[in-house]
Amino acid sequence: MKNILVIGAAGQIGSELVPELRARGYMTVAAGSGRTPLPEHLTDGPTATVNLLDSDALDAVIKHFNIDTVFNLAAILSAVGETRPMAAWNLGVYGVIGLLELARDRKLSVFTPSSIGVFGPETPHNLTPQDTVCRPRTMYGITKVAGELLSDYYRAKYGVDARSVRYPGLISYVTPPGGGTTDYAIDIYWKAIETGVYRCPLKAGTYLPMMFMPDALRAAIELMEADASRLKHFNSFNVGALSFDPEEVAASIQKRLPGFKLEYDVNPLLQSIADSWPDDLDDSAAREEWDWVPQYNLDQMTNVMLNAITKRLTESA
Ligand code: SER
Repeated sequence: MKNILVIGAAGQIGSELVPELRARGYMTVAAGSGRTPLPEHLTDGPTATVNLLDSDALDAVIKHFNIDTVFNLAAILSAVGETRPMAAWNLGVYGVIGLLELARDRKLSVFTPSSIGVFGPETPHNLTPQDTVCRPRTMYGITKVAGELLSDYYRAKYGVDARSVRYPGLISYVTPPGGGTTDYAIDIYWKAIETGVYRCPLKAGTYLPMMFMPDALRAAIELMEADASRLKHFNSFNVGALSFDPEEVAASIQKRLPGFKLEYDVNPLLQSIADSWPDDLDDSAAREEWDWVPQYNLDQMTNVMLNAITKRLTESA
């Protein structure tokens, strides 16, 4: 991994992965789709405009910058995917296979995140195993299963170095996510500071696997830096970090903001998606094969989130 292209750089993961890769000394091209402008903090290095579905234009960027590794972060998340299934399919399946074709021709390493969305109601929900039933009920999950299978297919058939992790709900404050089921766990921090009350779209007792962004960035980078001869799974690794329900994250916030109130206004679509997903993950394969260890617990994450959001709101006031 030397010259890196990050597709979807304007998004929730990309806007933090690009600076992290650059800080680690990698030549990193931040590529947006042109629809959302790249955040200013990414323009201190090389940038490009890339449509994942336009292979010729993507290939030209790869050639121009002599790219050897692509982080493909373009995605339509679970809740939005239910309202735009064809768009989710096109990006999640045609986008991934198009990139894998280029990876075969140009000998690229490729990271395309998978998700807890690959699991479904028949999957064991507690400590969900690495190798288990993957029969999702969302279009997002279907595209992620297809992406895992395609990535393993190109690896086995053509030797493409494709690797991925199944991200839990990712929590961050730099760039807002778009339309995920787990995103309540971000909104709750903003509302706690802005209004002191949050109306949660998921019921009390809805446990989901979650992860703070610094851990998510490390997972992606450490997997791509890992010695391939140690890896057995490739696409895709369970990565565990946190598991909590709305009550637990609210209690963590209340340690800092005792007046904070949690109310409920359950959204049936989000609730049914959340109910089909695991409570927590068995990530022993990631721990064994590339030494994965998460660093943040819930209270540590809450402290960083509340401090960072307070600072942002004060700066923009
Ligand atoms: N955060 C994603 C979602 O909720 C899961 O990968 O859609």
